[in-house]
Amino acid sequence: MNLLSAKNISHTFDYELFHNVSLDLEEQDSIAIIGISGSGKSTLLHILSTLLKADSGDVELFGENVAMMSKKKLSQIKRDSLGLVFQSHYLFKGFSAQENLEVAAILSNQEIQEELLERLSITKNMAQKVTELSGGQQQRVSIARVLTKKPRIIFADEPTGNLDKATAKEVMNLFFEYCQEHKAGMLLVTHDEKLAYMCKKVYRLENKELVKVQ
Ligand SMILES: Nc1ncnc2c1ncn2[C@@H]1O[C@H](COP(=O)(O)OP(=O)(O)OP(=O)(O)O)[C@@H](O)[C@H]1O
Ligand SMILES: [Mg+2]
Repeated sequence: MNLLSAKNISHTFDYELFHNVSLDLEEQDSIAIIGISGSGKSTLLHILSTLLKADSGDVELFGENVAMMSKKKLSQIKRDSLGLVFQSHYLFKGFSAQENLEVAAILSNQEIQEELLERLSITKNMAQKVTELSGGQQQRVSIARVLTKKPRIIFADEPTGNLDKATAKEVMNLFFEYCQEHKAGMLLVTHDEKLAYMCKKVYRLENKELVKVQ
């Protein structure tokens, strides 16, 4: 099944970032987007995850054009089916790691899975306040929070930027297994080409175009 389909997306801020970007994400698919700093990778991910409206082009989620959806339908899809792991983590700072996961579990009617915490090696950190966690621990808590709600599409912008190589690889494998198990798909933005080439497909944003390189 097609989870996401983007057609001829173009966007300009102070200058044109990219034009005619098209992309399809299927169930159990993983797509990496690489490209130099400032090429527009995060902007493209914001457009595909409906946080930002493109100047032109269409984004379809689960077969339906986002521009045609009611506000209610779109916010329901965002809440239940889209998982965002972005550069700033958006964890609730005054809360503990545990409380952050509880909020996600309650909102999505899911349970917190011990196994997930163990895979991410954060079991021991659950009682700590977010502000007491290291950058890499915060990153792993936000990954646990996103996976707790069981999204169908994971949008990840440098999700392992604060992690050492071995932990980053482990997190990538967790994402791949999650997608297999839950018929989900992942869109990953990263500077780390090694991690990118672990994905089934790799695209490079370059000269304002999205070019398939794997
Ligand atoms: N809200 C905004 N308003 C104006 N310009 C913006 C906005 N967001 C991003 N830009 C500009 O668009 C360009 C692309 O930014 P973007 O964050 O998408 O790049 P990136 O490829 O993700 O870079 P990096 O690898 O450094 O994260 C940059 O020149 C940036 O200054
Ligand atoms: Mg970026």
